[in-house]
Amino acid sequence: MAQAWDKIHDIFAGKTGDNIQIRGWIHRTRSSGKLIFLQVRDATGIIQVTIEKGNIPDTEFQAAKKALIESSVALKGKTIKDKRAPGGWEIHPESFTVINYADIFPITEQHSTEVLLDHRHLWLRSQQLTQIMKIKSSLLQIIREWFAQHNFFETTPSVITTNAAEGGATAFTFKYFDQKAFLSQTAQMYLEALIFSLERVWCLTPSFRAEKSRTRRHLIEYSHLEAEEAWLDNNQNIALQEDLVSYVCQKISATCASSLKALGSNPLNLQKITPPFPKITYKEAILRLQKKGFDATWGDDFGVLHEKALTEDEEKPLFITHFPQEIKAFYMELSPDGKTVECSDMLAPQGYGEIIGGSQRSEDISSMKIRLKKQGAKLENYEWFFDLRRFGSIPHSGFGMGIERLLCWITQQEHIRDMTPFPRLVRRAYP
Ligand code: 4AD
Ligand code: MG
Repeated sequence: MAQAWDKIHDIFAGKTGDNIQIRGWIHRTRSSGKLIFLQVRDATGIIQVTIEKGNIPDTEFQAAKKALIESSVALKGKTIKDKRAPGGWEIHPESFTVINYADIFPITEQHSTEVLLDHRHLWLRSQQLTQIMKIKSSLLQIIREWFAQHNFFETTPSVITTNAAEGGATAFTFKYFDQKAFLSQTAQMYLEALIFSLERVWCLTPSFRAEKSRTRRHLIEYSHLEAEEAWLDNNQNIALQEDLVSYVCQKISATCASSLKALGSNPLNLQKITPPFPKITYKEAILRLQKKGFDATWGDDFGVLHEKALTEDEEKPLFITHFPQEIKAFYMELSPDGKTVECSDMLAPQGYGEIIGGSQRSEDISSMKIRLKKQGAKLENYEWFFDLRRFGSIPHSGFGMGIERLLCWITQQEHIRDMTPFPRLVRRAYP
């Protein structure tokens, strides 16, 4: 049987010897006379490789010298302890094969954001994006674990829909044979239908928002994690979100410590994210903003600057509850005051913005119809949804979390576009 390929992180963890073989890509290369210094990368790490003329067949030495960065290579040799090398080890090969000679790599770290986005398919190989994608993978795994522990069923609602639940203004429309359809903004309405048989459901689907906002927090397409639960009121819904976010922060700080540190995020800060989170009402938030010098009045929605001002001094996420019904979606339960709704926004600390929106759902068909009409929605498209209130309606609540927003805060990065491999932005759908 052929010898299995070694992984770079296993070498750093102690799997060393005279008979090591790895394959990967040239990350850096430099040569001087009889020596070639390479850094070779695989999915698990980067290791230094030093090739000395005379230690390998001359054709292989010449091949290694000619190979540019991002060439794919395979090599076999022995590990040597070297304090100066990243990871503490380097490899001295006795054989070296170039699998594909790369062209001149078109990007360097110094390039502009636009150039990096044009070459996103290649820039995904950067260390920054590699670490982010690794943390994102762990994040999704941890979230799945949490839902399983809480006896939620994972479901798969469609992203093609005839309902623009979050308002027609930000919905993408397209021709679905001979009718008009939308790309989903939320799976919420479908999850609501599923609770009558499953009670606790969740899903992870792409959501689409045709928002012309070019901010550090907006994607046109994002990974939307949504949950819906029967018999749950707004306060219980808030407690559930608090539990999920705390669990994720604890787990990710333990499992991804080195990737987080590489990105400049301190895992110790994530360990401090434990319940309870601070909670204020919308009314209190407006007062806070006024005290901070904002010209904010009842009925204003919060923008980036407001959210930043509200959370800049917070260590934990902040809940804002009971927004005026006029600035929230049609499906939220009216509060007893008749003015606000039973909802919450969870804002990440340090101005990272809203990571979760949640609410108790209205059971009152006529109130929902009035609000939908104000938005100019076609009521007949919502008849199926009103059926859910006609056949065994119950109190229920749910929430939606933007995975890239959460990840951006956890990794302490500048811009949400780097939280997804191929960001869809107002002026970009390529590559
Ligand atoms: O607050 P939103 O619009 O709420 C809903 O869609 C509800 N129907 C969810 C539910 O109750 N099932 O969106 C939920 C979350 C936001 O808190 C934010 O984290 C994220 O989705 N989000 C975006 N993320 C990236 N780019 C955008 N353009 C986003 N718009 C919303
Ligand atoms: Mg929201």
